[in-house]
Amino acid sequence: MRRKLVVGNWKMNGRIAQNQALIEAVVGGVRESRNADYVLCVPYPYLGQAQSLLKDTNVTWGAQNLCANESVALTGAVSAYMLADYGCSYVIVGHSERRMQFHETDDTAATRFNAAEKAGLTPIFCMGESKEERESDWTEYVVGRQLDSIIRRFGAEVLEKAVLAYEPLWAVGTDVAATPEQAQKVHSFIRDRVAKCDAKIAKNVRILYGGSLNPANAAALFAMPDIDGGLVGRCSLDAKSFVAICKAASQ
Ligand code: 13P
Repeated sequence: MRRKLVVGNWKMNGRIAQNQALIEAVVGGVRESRNADYVLCVPYPYLGQAQSLLKDTNVTWGAQNLCANESVALTGAVSAYMLADYGCSYVIVGHSERRMQFHETDDTAATRFNAAEKAGLTPIFCMGESKEERESDWTEYVVGRQLDSIIRRFGAEVLEKAVLAYEPLWAVGTDVAATPEQAQKVHSFIRDRVAKCDAKIAKNVRILYGGSLNPANAAALFAMPDIDGGLVGRCSLDAKSFVAICKAASQ
């Protein structure tokens, strides 16, 4: 039985003065909800603040990206080992906003995925098709290609310590979430593709849904057999909404 996981992706939001109230409200809200795992992925400057407020709670923390290199002359980059120094357990890799706005590719996402695992972090690897790709019936081609960028290079065994996330681009930040059936279809495609390489890993790997998740749609999405939790953007900035989504996962 896979344990559900809810990850808040704050994206480029937060201020040191307001983070504390948000984090404390989340911690207080999910303290008794013991049947799922919770993570907050905060911007780099707030990792220390997240670490000090979340240690010894049932909420862990992580980052939203990393650089694949270690200790080199790369201005502005942050390595996996730096994230580990701040006690991060998770790091998001290959988010569509990074792929589109920072020109990250399947190849560089795969390299960062590997760097995260080597440093002992759990990568949350994002995949998803655009609206145009869905309308052209390319969803499985695109998601399959993104998944294969890891499996072909490193083998399916690297998914043993990873989390996968299906985030259709047309649902991210739009208020148009995938229906439970639409999401389930892609999640089951992803799990089947992993199963072709390793059935046991496919059975255990958690596949999160992301894209306009909210308290009203979370329970129905989480009820689907291959949806193992959520990657939450906007609603992770509001403690009440985020806690409600966490509680839906803990049912
Ligand atoms: P929204 O929940 O704001 O649609 O964002 C989803 C997302 O991109 C999470 O990584």
